[in-house]
Amino acid sequence: MPHSLNPTTNYINPSSLGTTDNMAQDIEEMASFCKKKGFVFPSAEIYGGIAGFYDYGPLGTELKNNLIAALWKRFVQQRDDVAGIDGSIITHASVWKASGHVDCFEDVMVECPKCKQRMRADHLVEEKLKISVEGVDAAGLNKLITDNKIGCPQCKSPLTEAKKFNLMFDVNVGPVKGNTSYLRPETAQLIFTNFKLVAETSRLKLPFGIAQVGKAFRNEISPRDFLFRTREFEQFEIEFFVHPDRIDDCEMLKENNSLMMNAKLEKEECQMTVSEAVKKKLMSAWHAYWISSFYRLFLEFGIPPESLRIRQHHKDELAHYARACFDIEYKFPFGWKEIHGCADRKNFDITQHSLHSKKDLSFFDEETKQRVVPDVIEPSQGIGRAFLALLFNAYNDDKERENVVLKLAPELAPVKAAVFPLLSNNDEQGTMAKGIVAELRKDHVVKYDRSGSIGRRYARNDEIGTPYCITVDFDSLTKKDVTIRDRDTTSQKRVKRAALADTLRKLLNKELAFKDL
Ligand code: GAP
Repeated sequence: MPHSLNPTTNYINPSSLGTTDNMAQDIEEMASFCKKKGFVFPSAEIYGGIAGFYDYGPLGTELKNNLIAALWKRFVQQRDDVAGIDGSIITHASVWKASGHVDCFEDVMVECPKCKQRMRADHLVEEKLKISVEGVDAAGLNKLITDNKIGCPQCKSPLTEAKKFNLMFDVNVGPVKGNTSYLRPETAQLIFTNFKLVAETSRLKLPFGIAQVGKAFRNEISPRDFLFRTREFEQFEIEFFVHPDRIDDCEMLKENNSLMMNAKLEKEECQMTVSEAVKKKLMSAWHAYWISSFYRLFLEFGIPPESLRIRQHHKDELAHYARACFDIEYKFPFGWKEIHGCADRKNFDITQHSLHSKKDLSFFDEETKQRVVPDVIEPSQGIGRAFLALLFNAYNDDKERENVVLKLAPELAPVKAAVFPLLSNNDEQGTMAKGIVAELRKDHVVKYDRSGSIGRRYARNDEIGTPYCITVDFDSLTKKDVTIRDRDTTSQKRVKRAALADTLRKLLNKELAFKDL
């Protein structure tokens, strides 16, 4: 969140997914893997691409959709207290005036007068001086640049004075020039503007949340690190509204209380349970509930505990109205980086929209019979950053198999099963395999593959993360069974044809372990 808006361990046991040893070494290796396999391409590459924009290819689209579906299912559909919306990308300009984005959503930029390169002043100083400058303003960055004689990283020339740059993309709405609005820089504000309508139409009572997933746009000064910092990206955000006197009254916290988290606090690095974080008053109970719910989900997706931590925002990084803010960080090969932000924003946003729209946005709380302006906890999940972290985590360069094995959680894998006839030119095997594909496709993404050797077909599917490969061989025709191969162990079992669909469903839902087949 760079912008001026500014062991009584109870780790969930991650499966065998994700080890750091065989990880993709750097972001370039990951970007080239993604392009080669059809996960992500530079946008409009035939014209040379455009910085900060990417197109998801066939497999990336499936993976991203699965990730979004998993978030939506868990945090919206499976709950009574969260409702979803899908707001417009361009909306009334006053929304962004009220939220503070028009005036303050900016980063500090420096420019090289000689080679014309523009860069974020904070990133440049951090890279050169190896210090954190979170919360340092333009004047402070200028001083650090001049005091330390930091020049252009490319041509070494002295840089221009650091100045603020607003990250909003403006657009002209309709045929009349000057009717300016903006591409939304976050999904959150649409939730605030719709908050009363959603609460009324969905008959929600405090505490409740509203979620949205969709595109956001920021004119980043220097987009970099592949999907990590782009100009167009997706967010899944929840605004969770709580009676201001009940921010520490969270019955659901007991689900997560004993979860152990790695933490980088303002003054120390440590491990603590969720209940310890609340007891130490680092965060309110509702804030702790939401951040730990996302932390838990990443563990369930197979990210090992040592690659996740929460990071507390320093006092000078915090917006003046915020009670506290924590990020969830993932340990990328290029360092610990934020993949999720979770802020306790008190009632800032609703108050702002109330003031600017001149509408009463207070809410009647049936339990206390009080009319209140609710406080808000805001979990904000970047989809591209989660996608990238999950890919780094899944990527295993398997030296024995001599191919990459993408150990994605089955729920997220783009293709759930591949079906092969053992002999590509055997009509009977082909017919049986196609019949299996037709049946399994009713519920899952399943591919038929008959090209190349069986080893090549396994390798191809390992590389895209297909959890199970099903082969029809000679015995299958007489015995009415097939082999099913597990991606992570390569072990194979025979399964009756008639039981295949049910078996696959149970394996994918984790109701059945492969070893117990
Ligand atoms: N409504 C709060 C908000 O937008 P943020 O920290 O600016 O907070 C939240 O963004 C999340 O959105 C980040 O944790 C990150 O995952 C994602 N995100 C932000 N800027 C991004 C960018 N330029 N490229 C990709 N993801 C980004």
